[in-house]
Amino acid sequence: MRMLLNNCVLMQRGFFMYVCLCQAVTDRDIQQAAKNGATSLKDLRRQLGVTVDCGRCARFASKCLKTANESFAVSDQAA
Ligand code: FES
Repeated sequence: MRMLLNNCVLMQRGFFMYVCLCQAVTDRDIQQAAKNGATSLKDLRRQLGVTVDCGRCARFASKCLKTANESFAVSDQAA
């Protein structure tokens, strides 16, 4: 089952959200990129292709990356 609500998509594995529609990059892709060491929009552009087309995703992609890196920092402190 697949349902589209704004940028959110419900799949069998749960919710994810498209961040970059041009390159079909999701918030999960950005979280994975952060786990792999991405720290900047330039890193996301290189790894996932965000902003290479229309560029409208730049602000949101940066916000998702910042949130992902902050959550990893908190979980590292808790460990
Ligand atoms: S939405 Fe990301 S490049 Fe267009």
